Amino acid sequence: PAARLTDAHGRRIEYLRLSVTDRCDLRCRYCMAEDMQFLPKAAVLSIEEMGELAERFVARGIRRIRLTGGEPLVRRGIEMLAARLGALVGNGLDELTLTTNAMRLAEHAPMLAAAGVRRINVSLDTLDREAFRHITRFGDIDVALRGIAAAQREGIAIKINMVALAGLNEDQLLPMLDWCAANGCDLTLIETMPLGEVEGDRSDHYIPLHQFVAPLRADRSIWPVDKATGGPARYFAIEDSPVTLGLITPLSDNFCATCNRIRLTVEGRIYMCLGQDDHVDLRAALRDGGDVDGLIDVALAGKPRAHDFHIERKSTPAVARHMSATGG
Ligand code: GTP
Ligand code: 5AD
Ligand code: SF4
Repeated sequence: PAARLTDAHGRRIEYLRLSVTDRCDLRCRYCMAEDMQFLPKAAVLSIEEMGELAERFVARGIRRIRLTGGEPLVRRGIEMLAARLGALVGNGLDELTLTTNAMRLAEHAPMLAAAGVRRINVSLDTLDREAFRHITRFGDIDVALRGIAAAQREGIAIKINMVALAGLNEDQLLPMLDWCAANGCDLTLIETMPLGEVEGDRSDHYIPLHQFVAPLRADRSIWPVDKATGGPARYFAIEDSPVTLGLITPLSDNFCATCNRIRLTVEGRIYMCLGQDDHVDLRAALRDGGDVDGLIDVALAGKPRAHDFHIERKSTPAVARHMSATGG
């Protein structure tokens, strides 16, 4: 059998982020431009091909798979992929998870629970109706909240992902924490990362998380807790709150030294790092019976030590492709 996945810096790779579509039914301002060019159908892997590749990665030692996009629930056939990968849980895979905007979560929650999904991360940057519409351009907060409730009824744990945006949701941290406490969700904050051209300059809205959480710290104490999800967040407990707070700080305090993940795009490319453009294309080898495992080894050998993001103000993003191409 092919060797397990360890990169040139000694990091064991056990977490695969699988982007099942580059499309999305929203256009969050920090993620996409209003007018996006999506990939043509021929460039996109079939559900069958994704399943086959994912199985190969599990055979190589991947223990967690997170389905992402774009918005994974707009991909046709997602229920077949979820069922196929769900069948690997307990058979090499420890966990199958999903990151979604929740617009279509209500209709898909039973299927996801049946596939064995136990945790879902939902992107929700504000509870304010108008601000939510502004940030997502098309989103309806009530639809998102109904999606979350439907997933919880299926026994799925929800973690809210909130991108910290200066001038757009700084006032929302405390209301969001209260809402999470009342609704049994955890909360993870994320620094906005410079991927892909969007309207305006993303650095206008960048705020380091230590600054974003200052109002919370002024009010209550928080302390680090051990909670390894395999993801990049550092976790904290909050005084008088049941909510576990996660902080994802790629810019102000990067976590590259402990990176354990790679990304597979809907075109069949492995990206070794979110914040870097190197990739290895598996699609041709997959379609022509080539040496896919050999290419996976090439990718691993080229995984960089750290990302290329930097905070300084400039209109050109550090990485040209959009977050939605690699699934975050
Ligand atoms: P858990 O399994 O719950 O820990 O999930 P996760 O936080 O790994 O996944 P999620 O899809 O919720 O991603 C949250 C944020 O983390 C997104 O903004 C991702 O882009 C970001 N993220 C995940 N992995 C990396 C990484 O390796 N590098 C960087 N810079 N950001 C990452
Ligand atoms: N910077 C940080 N997070 C982002 N996301 C999308 N674009 C960006 C960005 N430029 C978040 C989404 C989702 C997660 C996968 O990534 O809100 O929760
Ligand atoms: Fe869609 Fe997620 Fe990007 Fe928003 S952040 S546009 S929901 S992929």
